[in-house]
Amino acid sequence: MSAPRGQFSSNIGFLMAAAGSAVGLGNIWGFPTKAAGSGGAAFVMVYLILAFLLAYPALMAELTIGRYARSNMVHALRTIAKGPVSRFLGGLTGFGGIVVASLILSFYAIVAGWMVAHLAEPFASLFGASDAAQWLTGDSTARNLTFTAIFSGMTMVIIAAGVEKGIERWSTLLMPSLLILMLLLILYVLSQPGAMKGLEVYLMPDLSLIDPELMLSAMGQAFFSLSLGVGTMLIYGSYLSQQESLPRLGALVTLIDVGIAFTAGLLILPAMYVAQEAGTQIFSASGELIAGPGLILQVLPALFNEMGSAGLFVSMAFFALMVIASLTSSISMLEVPVAFAIESLKVPRKAATSLMGLVIFAISTVIILNFDALFGLVISISTEYGQPLLGVALCIFAGWIWRRDQLLMELKEGHENIESTLFWKIWPWYVRIVCPLLILAAFAQSVF
Ligand code: PHE
Repeated sequence: MSAPRGQFSSNIGFLMAAAGSAVGLGNIWGFPTKAAGSGGAAFVMVYLILAFLLAYPALMAELTIGRYARSNMVHALRTIAKGPVSRFLGGLTGFGGIVVASLILSFYAIVAGWMVAHLAEPFASLFGASDAAQWLTGDSTARNLTFTAIFSGMTMVIIAAGVEKGIERWSTLLMPSLLILMLLLILYVLSQPGAMKGLEVYLMPDLSLIDPELMLSAMGQAFFSLSLGVGTMLIYGSYLSQQESLPRLGALVTLIDVGIAFTAGLLILPAMYVAQEAGTQIFSASGELIAGPGLILQVLPALFNEMGSAGLFVSMAFFALMVIASLTSSISMLEVPVAFAIESLKVPRKAATSLMGLVIFAISTVIILNFDALFGLVISISTEYGQPLLGVALCIFAGWIWRRDQLLMELKEGHENIESTLFWKIWPWYVRIVCPLLILAAFAQSVF
């Protein structure tokens, strides 16, 4: 007998872990900066619609497959497949998920490492170590390697501790802290001069800005933000008890994810305009808002600097928020290859964690050493191509390949009277037809 599989001890534990996976740099950084860079409130609207119409149904496919098969993505897709061909394709898709999850983690750990370094900076300044402070916020290879290693190490320690004592415990501790920090920061920023202009840009839609490109970018954002396609939600679903209702928990995870992305916008956009009021350049030479890394790593730190000693604490709170958000997501990425190694290769958890953690750190190292060539490329391959294509494959597995009666039985578990819900009437055919078509249509547009 192999060791019993890990399981979340309660539905709150699952909720914290799954919401922790979903809420990450994608929400606090990606979403507000994309909104700032492409049409403000128009982007926000399209994103909200796509999150519920597309990402939520796809999330349900992963959770249902995972809980039914009670295993990692490779084994799960092979389990629900019917013949040798679909079993082979299932294994291949599952393996694709593991590779893409690992690639995402390899760049995510670099960015999260920057956040840890920026979190350390105010401490160095407080102790008068100005050389160290400069090194921490500079952009050297040594700094990047050091902090990627530190962040990867933190991720590995949590994953080595297992589902309940690692993932669940840390997510349950970190998620409420994240919310408190974020609300405090919002209250502070909104009380500063210039903040209202940012709110206006964020909340007043200019509908003329909605075009196919914006829709595609919003779809990619929704997929990334809900951690879809790569088997993270599948494996978390596999640790969930049969007593819980999947449609309800999935809806809650989606609501929390969207809610926190939206709330993060109330922090980031006003903060940009506060920075402008304080004399920081927030538009590039070509007149566009500075989005992306420049925003988080230059505009906001410049603002914190302006604020004197209060700025030191605000800066700590802000980067602590970023590190927490990153960590609850990075553990969910590492769990994907680790669960595969434990279940399919029969490696003990600690060894599996070290092995996979080190392989992924090696990939991060290669990216850092060839930053200009690889960083953007890996992000694009994994999130723009990998995640949507795997998402389509998962919907097809749930909708077409898996035996219908088994899928429906699994949905019923833990949800009394599900037959009378709208979800029951719509989702089973929606995931079959509408989801794959919508994803493919948006995808085709980007390729041609
Ligand atoms: N959802 C996470 C974020 O928004 C990223 C993520 C992607 C996590 C894929 C797990 C798997 O930052």
